Amino acid sequence: MIFYFTGTGNSLYAASRIAEDQGDRIFSIAKLMDLKKDVYHYELEKDELLGFVFPVFAWAPPKIVLDFAEKLEISTKPGTDGKSEGVGGKPYVFSLCTCGDEEGRTSQVLRKVLAKRGLDLDGAFSLRMPNNYIIGFDVDSKEVAAGKLKAAELLLSEIGKAIGRRQRGIDLTIPGKFPGLKTALINPMFNRFAVSTKSFHVDDTCTGCGICERICPVHTITITGDEKPVWGKDCTQCLGCVNRCPVRAIQMGKGTDRKGRYCHPDLDRLERQLDDQVTE
Ligand SMILES: Cc1cc2nc3c(=O)[nH]c(=O)nc-3n(C[C@H](O)[C@H](O)[C@H](O)COP(=O)(O)O)c2cc1C
Ligand code: SF4
Ligand code: SF4
Repeated sequence: MIFYFTGTGNSLYAASRIAEDQGDRIFSIAKLMDLKKDVYHYELEKDELLGFVFPVFAWAPPKIVLDFAEKLEISTKPGTDGKSEGVGGKPYVFSLCTCGDEEGRTSQVLRKVLAKRGLDLDGAFSLRMPNNYIIGFDVDSKEVAAGKLKAAELLLSEIGKAIGRRQRGIDLTIPGKFPGLKTALINPMFNRFAVSTKSFHVDDTCTGCGICERICPVHTITITGDEKPVWGKDCTQCLGCVNRCPVRAIQMGKGTDRKGRYCHPDLDRLERQLDDQVTE
C-alpha cells in the first residue's frame, strides 16, 4: 500500500514506478483527506509494505502528508502460520521524497510522526527530480531536467530493489548542507509566512478551461461567473495550479510571468490511468 502526494507529477511518477515493481497499488493522500476522517485505518496483508511518496516543501514533508500520517492506524493480518510480517508484527515502511536538490531532514520529520503511530521508518530515500518551485528560483533548464529524469530512472530501479528485499535501516537521503537548520528553522517560517493563496492572481490570457480548479488537491480554487479562478484560503503550496495552467496565466506575486513552468511528462497519462481504476 503506497500513499502519495503530488503537485506536478514527479512524486506520482515515482510512486507508480515503485508500485509497478512491487506489484502494489497507490493511493492519493489528497483524495483520502477529502474524506475528512478522524482516523485512517488499514489492515495490511502479512508481507504487504507501507510506503509514502511525496515532494519536499522547504526541507520538510508537505503539511497534508504529515496530517495524514498523524491519523494513520495500521494493522497487519497474520499469515497462515499465525505470525505477522516484520519486527514485532510491524510492516516494512519506506518513504521516498522527491526534491529539486536536497531534502534537509524531511525523512526524519516523517519518521517522528510515524513513530507516534507505532510505525518504524525502515527505508528512507530521496530522489532528485526537476524543480517545480519558481519563487526566488526558476525551473531547471531542459537539459538539467532531462538529466535528472534519466538519473531518476536508474535510482528508482535501485530503490525498488532495496524495497523488494525489505532492507531495513537503509538511509539513501540527500540532506544537503545545514539540513537541521533548514528543517528546524526555515521550514516553520515557510509554513507561517509563505503558505498562502494571497499572492496568486490570474492574467488576461486565462481561457477559463477549469484545469486549475480540477487539479487543486485542497479544492481551494473556484471558477467564477466571469470564468476566471478565485482562490480560497486553504493551500498546500504545491504549485500545481501555477505549473499546470496550459497558458501560464497564473502568477504568484511579481516575476513569475518571466519564469518557466514544469510538469512531469507522464502526469496526464498517469492521472487518466488512476481515473480508470476508480471507475472499473
Ligand atoms: C513549496 C515548494 C517548496 C519546495 N522546497 C524544496 C526544497 O526544500 N528542496 C528541494 O530540493 N526542492 C524543493 N522543492 C521542489 C520540489 O520538491 C520538487 O520539484 C518535487 O519533485 C516536486 O514534486 P511533485 O511534482 O510530485 O509535486 C519545492 C517545491 C515547492 C512547490
Ligand atoms: S488553468 Fe489557467 S487557463 Fe485554465 S482556468 Fe485556470 S488559470 Fe484559466
Ligand atoms: S491553490 Fe494552487 S498551490 Fe495551493 S494547493 Fe491548490 S493547486 Fe496547490
